Amino acid sequence: MALRQITLRVNGTTYAGEAEPRKTLADFIREDCGLTGTHLGCEHGVCGACTILMDGEAVRSCLLFAVQAEGAELMTVEGLADGDRLHPIQQAYWDHHALQCGFCTPGFLITTYAFLRDNPTPSEREIREGLAGNLCRCTGYQNIVKAVAAAGEMRSAGAEFEPGWAARARRESRAGAPAATGPQPSVAGPRLTGDAEPAGKDTKARRRPKHTAARTRGRRQRKSNR
Ligand code: FES
Ligand code: FES
Repeated sequence: MALRQITLRVNGTTYAGEAEPRKTLADFIREDCGLTGTHLGCEHGVCGACTILMDGEAVRSCLLFAVQAEGAELMTVEGLADGDRLHPIQQAYWDHHALQCGFCTPGFLITTYAFLRDNPTPSEREIREGLAGNLCRCTGYQNIVKAVAAAGEMRSAGAEFEPGWAARARRESRAGAPAATGPQPSVAGPRLTGDAEPAGKDTKARRRPKHTAARTRGRRQRKSNR
């Protein structure tokens, strides 16, 4: 099947790659962008494990094709924390032991972010309705509901709710470092060659985006700007 060029932004970084039109957005994020925090459970829109933000809306990345996200701004669970500092939602999940195996957690965190962004002071019933599209096989939901309520309270009390990637971008742009928002140099993702990949080629390397060097350069530049 013919490959299509795809360029999108995830957590403020531009990724460019090629994908067959049948490739899901979830697979593109995991395999081509190397962001494996987005999980795949049911792969048909039921469990919510693959939830991400696309242009600000919570969507199921297993139900979208990568080509449908051409030019979109995405946020995955990796975009929430600011370095070692957990986002208030992550902190609340931690504090309230709102996870066990953690498989469903990335989807819950993103759903919670979108939910609290739109409704910072929800009732318990609203929380349960807001999270109804995400399934957890471990926790029984009680602690997840408590965590979401606690995160909402933190937000109302003035906790910084901005996702970590956006806060970093703001700091870097103030410091004159390469902008993390706005146009960025495209980062070439690997070609999706599937079965046509030459035998013996390092699969991990093939799946990992070649942006490590660009990030290292950015880190050096930021250090020299301090
Ligand atoms: S993996 Fe997408 S909804 Fe279950
Ligand atoms: S914590 Fe295991 S599925 Fe939710």
